Amino acid sequence: MERPVALITGAASGIGRAVCRALAARDHLVIAADIDLPGAELVAAEVEGRAVELDVRELAANEAAVAFTLEQAGRLDHIFLNAGISTGTGFGDEFDLETYRRAMSINLDGVVFGLQAALPALKATEGSAVATASLAGLTPVPMDPFYAANKHAVVGLVRSAGPALQVDGVRLNAICPGFTESAIIAPIRDGLLEGGVPIIETAVVADAVVSLLEAQTVGDCVFVQSGRPPAPFAFRNIPGPRPIDPEAVS
Ligand SMILES: NC(=O)c1ccc[n+]([C@@H]2O[C@H](COP(=O)([O-])OP(=O)(O)OC[C@H]3O[C@@H](n4cnc5c(N)ncnc54)[C@H](O)[C@@H]3O)[C@@H](O)[C@H]2O)c1
Repeated sequence: MERPVALITGAASGIGRAVCRALAARDHLVIAADIDLPGAELVAAEVEGRAVELDVRELAANEAAVAFTLEQAGRLDHIFLNAGISTGTGFGDEFDLETYRRAMSINLDGVVFGLQAALPALKATEGSAVATASLAGLTPVPMDPFYAANKHAVVGLVRSAGPALQVDGVRLNAICPGFTESAIIAPIRDGLLEGGVPIIETAVVADAVVSLLEAQTVGDCVFVQSGRPPAPFAFRNIPGPRPIDPEAVS
C-alpha cells in the first residue's frame, strides 16, 4: 500500500505540530501548512515532510495548498483542519470588529474552505477529515463568547456535513479538546493552574486525532478531557413535535 499523505493546517505549533509528529511516526507523509511558513518548515524538516504557506481565511490559498500536496505526493488521504485562534473580545467596550472578523474567518471559514478545497482529492482516496472544534463548541464560554460561537459552528457543520459527505466515501469528524498545552492558552495559563484546571498534553490530543482520522465514523465530535478516554460527545435529541390539541388552541 502507498504511504498515506496528510495535510495539516496550523501545523507550525501546538496541536497541529503534535499531529504532524504522530502521523509521521505512523509512516504518513506530512504536509505542514501554516501562515507561519518558517514554523511550518521547521516541523516539516523534523518529520521529513513538506511545508506550505497557507492563510486558511482564503479559499484560493486552501486550493493552492491542496494542489501543492498533489504535486508533491500525488494523493491526499487525510486533512486536519486545525488552524485557530482565541478571540479575547466580548460585547460592549471590549468589542473589536477586526478581532471578531479575524476569529470567525480563521476558526470557521478556515474549516469550510479547507474542506471545500480538499474534497475532490479526498473523494479520490475515500479519505478523511478532522476539524478542530473544542470543548468550547459543546458548552457555553462566557469569557470568550465569539470563540464559543465559532467552535459551536464547527460542531454543527461537522454533524451536518459528516453524514452528507459519507455518500462520497469521505469521513468527516471533529475533535473537541479541553485546555491543551499550547501558545493559545498563554494568556490564561497561570490562572488555569491557580484554579486547579488540568492542562492536557498536545501528544494526548494528537493520538485522539490520529484515531479519529482512521475511524469509520462520520459526524462525531470526540471530546478530549483530562483523565478520561476520548469519546464521542452524546448530544440530546431535540424534542419532537406533538399533535396539536385543537381544544387547547384559542
Ligand atoms: N490549546 C487549547 O487549549 C485548545 C483547546 C481546544 C481547541 N483548541 C484549538 O486547537 C487548534 C490549534 O490551536 P493550538 O492550541 O495548537 O494553538 P497554537 O497557537 O499553538 O497553534 C495555532 C496555529 O495556527 C496557526 N494559524 C493562525 N492563524 C492562521 C491562519 N490564518 N492560517 C493558517 N494558520 C494559522 C498559527 O500560526 C499556529 O501555528 C485551534 O483551532 C484551537 O482553537 C485549542
